Amino acid sequence: MTTDTTTKGTATTVLDARGVTMRFGGLTAVRGVDLTVNSGEIVGLIGPNGAGKTTFFNCLTGLYIPTEGEVRYKDRVLPPKSFKVTAAGIARTFQNIRLFNNMTVLENVLVGRHTRTREGFWSAVLRGPGFHRAEAASREHAMELLEFVGLAAKADHLARNLPYGEQRKLEIARALASEPGLLLLDEPTAGMNPQETRTTEELVFAIRDKGIAILVIEHDMRFIFNLCDRVAVLVQGEKLIEGDSATVQGDERVVAAYLGEPLENDPGAAEAAEVEAAEANAGTAADTPAGKENDR
Ligand SMILES: Nc1ncnc2c1ncn2[C@@H]1O[C@H](COP(=O)(O)OP(=O)(O)O)[C@@H](O)[C@H]1O
Ligand SMILES: [Mg+2]
Repeated sequence: MTTDTTTKGTATTVLDARGVTMRFGGLTAVRGVDLTVNSGEIVGLIGPNGAGKTTFFNCLTGLYIPTEGEVRYKDRVLPPKSFKVTAAGIARTFQNIRLFNNMTVLENVLVGRHTRTREGFWSAVLRGPGFHRAEAASREHAMELLEFVGLAAKADHLARNLPYGEQRKLEIARALASEPGLLLLDEPTAGMNPQETRTTEELVFAIRDKGIAILVIEHDMRFIFNLCDRVAVLVQGEKLIEGDSATVQGDERVVAAYLGEPLENDPGAAEAAEVEAAEANAGTAADTPAGKENDR
């Protein structure tokens, strides 16, 4: 089911989510989802608005504790706090960009790095030689990351003055600063123009080539099917299908889910489809920055 063809023989399981269920009161946003990501892989997570994709990410990053199920990163059960998950090696970006707007581009990356610096609180306050050495190394590393995502020339700009597409790249640089083994990207090309989307695609391949496994949520199907070794489809909180791009693209249930046609045995789908269609007509589809953004 989850055999990996690109790294056969050497692949190890980086992420192993089993039976993840997340309930909010009476609403089950994610229901019994299994998903693995192996080293060297780029895995896509797609599905209509409200399918539970962001909620699932939140369950993988310690923001939510799943109501049921278990998540392992490199054979260890995830700690139940997001900063500990980051320290363990999972980094993410958000569907709603979360930058420190009044900090510079470089400072934003430095914030992302702090889980990896040994210097503690007192060292930072006392600012001894150890602190200055560590700080210089951190700055150098942060500048390398800005170079990598193509933002080195804007290191001193305030984050809020960056165009939207560059803010998304800065979020990726900040996530990489924690030196993750797995990077989760929640709609990384939302609001980008086609040119920016293409450079983001190259960037994701380059991150994979650094040895970082990737799980990516995106509505841009061309981006997903170009990029991903495997794609899983969530519909109404459940995994509908998982497979390589060709398999998923050709599955008529996936097409139906996206066209908003009612799925068999699914009384709620017709209503959901109407809402989706109305949103699309009103120009608030999820692939625009003004789209429904409900990550928390
Ligand atoms: N903190 C929360 N409390 C209550 N409901 C939530 C919360 N987070 C998400 N939901 C609901 O869970 C469902 C899935 O949302 P989400 O994971 O954001 O979907 P997607 O990212 O696939 O668009 C939606 O119905 C949403 O309103
Ligand atoms: Mg979402």
